[in-house]
Amino acid sequence: MADDLWWQRGIFYQIYPRSFQDSNGDGIGDLTGILQRLPYLSRLGADAVWLSPIFPSPMADFGYDISDYTGIDPIFGNMQDFDLLIASVHERGLKLILDLVPNHTSDQHPWFIESRSSRTNPKRNWYIWSDGAADGEPPNNWLSEFGGSAWQYDATTGQYYYHAFLAQQPDLNWRNPEVRQAIYDVMRFWLRKGVDGFRVDVIWHLIKDDQLRDNPLNAAFREGMPPNQRLTPLYTTDRPEIHDVVAEMRQVVDEFRDRVLIGEIYLPVEQLMSYYGKDLLGAHMPFNFALLSASWNAHEIKNIIAEYERALPIGAWPNWVLGNHDRPRIASRVGRDQARIAAMLLLTLRGTPTLYYGDEIGMEQVAIAPSQVRDPFERNVPGIGVGRDGCRTPMQWDADLNAGFSRGDPWLPLSADFLHENVRNLEADQTSILSLYRALIALRRNNPAMVSGSYEPVATANDLLFFRRREGSTCFNVVLNFGTEPMSLTHGDGIDFGTEILLSTHLDRWNETLSQSLDLRGNEGVITVRPHSSGQE
Ligand code: NOJ
Repeated sequence: MADDLWWQRGIFYQIYPRSFQDSNGDGIGDLTGILQRLPYLSRLGADAVWLSPIFPSPMADFGYDISDYTGIDPIFGNMQDFDLLIASVHERGLKLILDLVPNHTSDQHPWFIESRSSRTNPKRNWYIWSDGAADGEPPNNWLSEFGGSAWQYDATTGQYYYHAFLAQQPDLNWRNPEVRQAIYDVMRFWLRKGVDGFRVDVIWHLIKDDQLRDNPLNAAFREGMPPNQRLTPLYTTDRPEIHDVVAEMRQVVDEFRDRVLIGEIYLPVEQLMSYYGKDLLGAHMPFNFALLSASWNAHEIKNIIAEYERALPIGAWPNWVLGNHDRPRIASRVGRDQARIAAMLLLTLRGTPTLYYGDEIGMEQVAIAPSQVRDPFERNVPGIGVGRDGCRTPMQWDADLNAGFSRGDPWLPLSADFLHENVRNLEADQTSILSLYRALIALRRNNPAMVSGSYEPVATANDLLFFRRREGSTCFNVVLNFGTEPMSLTHGDGIDFGTEILLSTHLDRWNETLSQSLDLRGNEGVITVRPHSSGQE
C-alpha cells in the first residue's frame, strides 16, 4: 500500500464547470464557484478533481472547441482565478486534473484561421485538408460523430477539411510533428503551473488513415442509432500509429513528478488495454467505460468485471466510471434504488473510481424541452435520445433560489426535485445516498485492502453478485442484490459471508452480527467482514 501512487489510492471527481457553482450571477458556473465549493469535496472525500474544459472557446461544443489552449475563458474567470484555485486545491491535499483536447481545435483558433487562409500557409498542414472526390462530393465516406459528413468544404481554398465532431471543430493533423510539439508545449504550460495531470479527450481519434480509405459499413446498424454508426470507424479511429502519440504524451507527463495521464477511450476491452502502452508507458489509466453501457443485472456486471480483470496487462492499474457529461445519469439508467448498489459497486471494485458530479446526491436526467436544448449533438441529430443536456444540469446545493447554484437564470433547467434532493438536505440525512457515498469513500480510504487488495468473484445467482476484496488477513465481502426481492444466504449455501455487517446501502445495519444467514432486502447491498481476520475489530 505504501507504494501506491495518489492516482491509484485516490477517488476522482469530475466537475462540469458550467454546472457546478456560479459565483457572478450569469447563470453559468465558474472557477470561483468551484473554489467556494472545495470544502464540500473535502467533506465528501474526493482526492482529485477533473475539470471539463475551461479554456477560451466559442462554446459551439461547450468548451470542447478551444480557441486558445493556454488561457481561461472569461465565462469561467481568468488566470488569477485559476492560480488561486489550483493553490487552494493543493492546500487541501487534493489534485487538479485538466481536460486536454488535442484532437481538434475551434475553427476560431488562430492555427485554423491561418490554415484555412491559403493552400501555402505554413499552418496548412496542421489540419487535414483534401480535394473533393471527382464529382465534387466529399473526399470519402467518413461521418461526423455529430451527424452528416465529416468533411466541410471551404470555399477560400476550394478544399475540404476533416472534423470528427462539429464543423466548428476541425481535426488537427497528428501526423505533423509541429502539431505534436505545439500540443506538448501546451501540456508543459499547465504542468509547470502545477496541474496534476490530464484527461485526454478522444485520444483514440488522434490519428486517421493517411490514405483516407472509406470506412466499411456497420452490419449492426439499426434505425434509431446515431447516424455515424452506419459505418465502422476502422480508418478514422484506433489506428496503429496512435500508440506512438500516446507514448510521447506520457513522456511529456513524465518530465514532471507524480503526474497522471488518463485517456478517454470508447473501445472494446482488448483494444482498450493497448492504450496502457508497450511496457505500460502509455496512458496510466485508459478510462474504463464498461459500466456506462452495461445491462444492469448481476450476471452482466460479473462478466464485465471478469473480462476487464482478465484483459488487464500485468501491472496495469484498473479504473471504473459510472457516469460522465456525455452519458445519461446512473440514477436514471438503473433507478434510484439501484443507484445505491451502483455506488457500492463503484467504490468497492479494484481500481480508481471516477465520480461524476451530482451522482453522489442521486441526480437524475432532467427532461429538456425542445426549446431549451443546448447540446449541438441533439440539435444536429434530434429525437433519438442522444442529447447530453439532461446530465449536465446545475448541481443541487440547497433549497434556495436556483438550488444555490446561481442567483441568475441557470443556463440549463434545474431538476424539479431540487427542493428535497440537494446537498444541504442530504448531508443532514444520515440515510441519504450522499451519506452512503461518504461512508463508502471513508471505508475505502481507511482500508488498504479496498485499494490494493485482490478482487475475488465468489458467487453470482439470479440477482446476487458476491465478491471479495482481500489483502493479507483482511477480507471484505461485497454482497449486492440487483433485484427488488429479498434474498438470503445461509451457511448451507457453503459460502462464507462473514460474521458482521460493516455497511449496508440502506445505512441502518451498522455492526450487525450475522449468525445463521445473511438476509438482504430488495435493492440492498452490504459489506461484511469476519472481524478477527479483517483488522476491523
Ligand atoms: C468527448 C467529450 O467528452 C464530448 O463532450 C465532446 O463533445 C467530444 N469529445 C468532442 O470533443
